[in-house]
Amino acid sequence: MTIIVTGGAGFIGSNFIYYMLDKHEDYRIICVDKLTYAGNLSTLERALNDERFRFVKADICDRTAVNKLFEEEKPDIVVNFAAESHVDRSIENPDIFLQTNIIGTAVLMDACRKYGIKRFHQVSTDEVYGDLPLDRPDLFFTEETPIHTSSPYSSSKASADLLVQAYNRTYGLPITISRCSNNYGPYHFPEKLIPLMIANALNDKPLPVYGKGENVRDWLYVEDHCKAIDLIIHNGKDGEVYNIGGHNEKTNIEIVKIICKELSKPESLITYVKDRAGHDLRYAIDPAKIHKELGWLPETKFEDGIKKTIKWYLENRSWWQEIISGEYQNYYEKMYGNR
Ligand code: NAD
Ligand code: TYD
Repeated sequence: MTIIVTGGAGFIGSNFIYYMLDKHEDYRIICVDKLTYAGNLSTLERALNDERFRFVKADICDRTAVNKLFEEEKPDIVVNFAAESHVDRSIENPDIFLQTNIIGTAVLMDACRKYGIKRFHQVSTDEVYGDLPLDRPDLFFTEETPIHTSSPYSSSKASADLLVQAYNRTYGLPITISRCSNNYGPYHFPEKLIPLMIANALNDKPLPVYGKGENVRDWLYVEDHCKAIDLIIHNGKDGEVYNIGGHNEKTNIEIVKIICKELSKPESLITYVKDRAGHDLRYAIDPAKIHKELGWLPETKFEDGIKKTIKWYLENRSWWQEIISGEYQNYYEKMYGNR
């Protein structure tokens, strides 16, 4: 089995590559990644020494490069993680989100049609469903919840989902889509809530909480997400959407306080800053379908997952310190300087 994993030098894609190389001894994994600010080759160091793994630096929007790769590798499965993934950046500059997240997905699917494929899997997000009110804890996103997006990021992901479903219906391309809640774990870029708070706390820097910190996210340990995708690409039904989430809802302020406690840092570091424009209130997944059809259940409890994650950031300081020492400084000043 040969699997092309796009965006594999990023957070979830790299965790997925390691999971698949460990789980399936006879699989060949080809990672295609443009190495944007969010992609790091050092993340794939261990995989690069594995003869079952190949890295190709390419943009998924580059039709010539994508077709050449398909011709060379004749993949059985494509798992598309490649995306611009940060809501705050999408508010600053939507253009690249439309390019990579929509056009890039179409280019990959065109190659799948041209060269043949057993399955194209689109890694999507619960953000395509918009948000839920804070005062209705009985409501959850199901696969039938209408698409209703808030940010340029979620709109670009929803557009890609619609295109994937259209390729399935019109051209008969075999596809699946997964919509997962917020992930956390190793190799998470420190512009997202959990790694940013860990890095800032370790450097005794202010912990910038948007608005009142009341927004709710449904956190899932990244390895549980990888296991779900592995199940879907092998046993999921053609044309289906699967929601992935672990019923682990927490407000942002709860998360930041847990991180302070775990690192023995004072809560006085917490700084309330201007809210994000269009800020989604609550995400919460109903994972009944993937549980019933594929037997998936999350295995890592938040209490354990956050400890493992913090330990990883403590033991891998050079990975994230290198990131926050470069261009990241300009980003941080731009996004948080006048907030
Ligand atoms: P990430 O930003 O950490 O990584 C994205 C990767 O894609 C990077 O390695 C980057 O270099 C690469 N990339 C970007 N543009 C590219 C292009 N044009 N061509 C080739 N490679 C390109 O993102 P992540 O958090 O790992 O998310 C991966 C996927 O999972 C995304 O599709 C995202 O929408 C989805 N998702 C993320 C979460 C989450 O909590 N992080 C939750 C649900 C779904
Ligand atoms: P983020 O990790 O960007 O994920 P998403 O917006 O895709 O859910 O943000 C998670 C939550 O944390 C979101 O409600 C915004 C909030 N947040 C902060 O309060 N401060 C920050 O510095 C960041 C990056 C996020």
